[in-house]
Amino acid sequence: MALIDDLRELERRALADIAQASSLQELDAVRVAVVGKSGELTGYLRNMGNVPKEERAEVGKAVNAARQAVEEAIEGRKAALAAAELDARIQSDAVDVTLPGRVQQLGSRHLINRIIDEVSDIFLGLGYTVGAGPEVETDYYNFTALNAPADHPSRSMQDTFYLRDLSGDAAAVRGESDVLLRTQTSGAQVHAMEDQPLPIYMIAPGKVYRRDVADPSHLPQFHQIEGLAVDKGITFGDLKGTLDHLCKQIFGPDRKTRFRAHYFPFTEPSAEVDVSCGVCGGAGCRMCKGTGWLEILGCGMVDPNVLEMSGIDPEVYSGFAFGMGVERIACLKYNVPDLRMLLEGDMRFLRQF
Ligand code: DAH
Repeated sequence: MALIDDLRELERRALADIAQASSLQELDAVRVAVVGKSGELTGYLRNMGNVPKEERAEVGKAVNAARQAVEEAIEGRKAALAAAELDARIQSDAVDVTLPGRVQQLGSRHLINRIIDEVSDIFLGLGYTVGAGPEVETDYYNFTALNAPADHPSRSMQDTFYLRDLSGDAAAVRGESDVLLRTQTSGAQVHAMEDQPLPIYMIAPGKVYRRDVADPSHLPQFHQIEGLAVDKGITFGDLKGTLDHLCKQIFGPDRKTRFRAHYFPFTEPSAEVDVSCGVCGGAGCRMCKGTGWLEILGCGMVDPNVLEMSGIDPEVYSGFAFGMGVERIACLKYNVPDLRMLLEGDMRFLRQF
């Protein structure tokens, strides 16, 4: 019977399609096409009315058998595909607990900030406050109030970045209201004396700027830490004791200090402080250029003129001041031969500290 042959052929094709379906969606498409509402096999059942009466029973049996075979095959394939998909999902979601974790790179404080923090801690321990002054200053705070009026020769010790030239004439005589990038943190002394009640014990770390070309011992921008103590009865002995303590805290208890007479406009007397060389222990080496000593800061007794300009009576009060270059101290403490290395951001250098 041709009809039965067609049915067998349809069943064979359907079973092959089912076996080949590679996803649940593909399988469902086969189901719809064969046994769905308007599927091919369903069409045979619908058309039973057209089948001659005497063949109906046989054809009906064959259609039902084919339908059952197809539906069973679909169920079987569905289970297999569902299991495979679950497997794949488990594979792709799986976490390999033996893999190493992602390593977070830890940052660390830069040497410059380390020195600032270290010196701040030392002075906080001595009862000082830690303050700051503005980086953009007027001539008054950077020079005049520090006993260096216009034309004072000490001004040429530091090449200044001026932000505004009031006259527009570079050769014009400069005045107290000129705006500049501070060349030293010493202006913070004046701000403190103007703003704070006495006595004053303070340090002020910060950036300073000079018209210098960067080389192993100069940077156009660097950091200083200013210190100021103003009280009744402050002596040079207090200054020496304080700075000797500072040096031993920073460099170690075996290091010695010496005070060499020097000149600064805002202190009288003034001194530069050297610390004994940590490389040779004072015998003389390349680091200390054979002297056994390393210069680390400037200091002195606050000049009575400076106290007076800030409204403090020098007959009643006296004080000492000091200022140090942070980059220089970092290089001396960690034996770095060139200030510029601090700023290059080379991780091979920075990781060593
Ligand atoms: N301001 C000076 C400089 O930049 C350093 C200095 C020296 C600061 C002596 C002071 C001081 O407070 O007393 O070279």
